[in-house]
Amino acid sequence: MTGRISVVEGDITELPVDAIVNAANESLLGGGGVDGAIHRAAGPRLLEQCRTLGGCPTGEARATDGYDLPARWVIHTAGPVWRGGDAGEPALLAGCYRNSLTLAAELGAEEVAFPAISTGVYGYPLQAATAIAVAETVAFLEAHETPPRVTFVCFSAEAAVVYTQVLAASEGQQPSG
Ligand code: APR
Repeated sequence: MTGRISVVEGDITELPVDAIVNAANESLLGGGGVDGAIHRAAGPRLLEQCRTLGGCPTGEARATDGYDLPARWVIHTAGPVWRGGDAGEPALLAGCYRNSLTLAAELGAEEVAFPAISTGVYGYPLQAATAIAVAETVAFLEAHETPPRVTFVCFSAEAAVVYTQVLAASEGQQPSG
């Protein structure tokens, strides 16, 4: 399983991977943050397709084409808004990763890139969100051969440090071989 997950710092809209995940909202009609960046880079046809999807409940995922993006597909997921941690946020955030990975596998994506879902506007504490992102992804890849590769794209050096530390600790717990 090790070697299938990487951490990079950068702008997810520039990654030439098969599928990028969008930290959207339930309307799927765009917004700020990475959602705004992805819609700007993909062009207006992305919103046109999103309008046909009828939204996406928190924790679930929906796929569209990537249009003007380097990525072939965009997997839109709505992360939970942080309300203190006792409103089901951890399970919903875990669902974002699990359902996005399931969709990436169904699409046949060779590599899928995730932003740090819910850690911006939605206020999810970075450390707690990263622990869920890594644990859910490691568990999925241990049980599935596809997608072959996953990249966590961090928009800040701070996030890249946290992701790298959490991933290293997780792989340190992996049975060798
Ligand atoms: N590439 C990679 N990561 C990015 C980019 C980018 N171009 N732009 C922002 N990010 C990072 C942020 O720094 C943060 O770590 O994505 C993470 C998620 O932050 P948000 O984009 O604010 O998303 P989220 O916290 O999930 O809130 C979702 O914000 O933009 C609206 O429509 C969106 O209502 C939804 C809400």
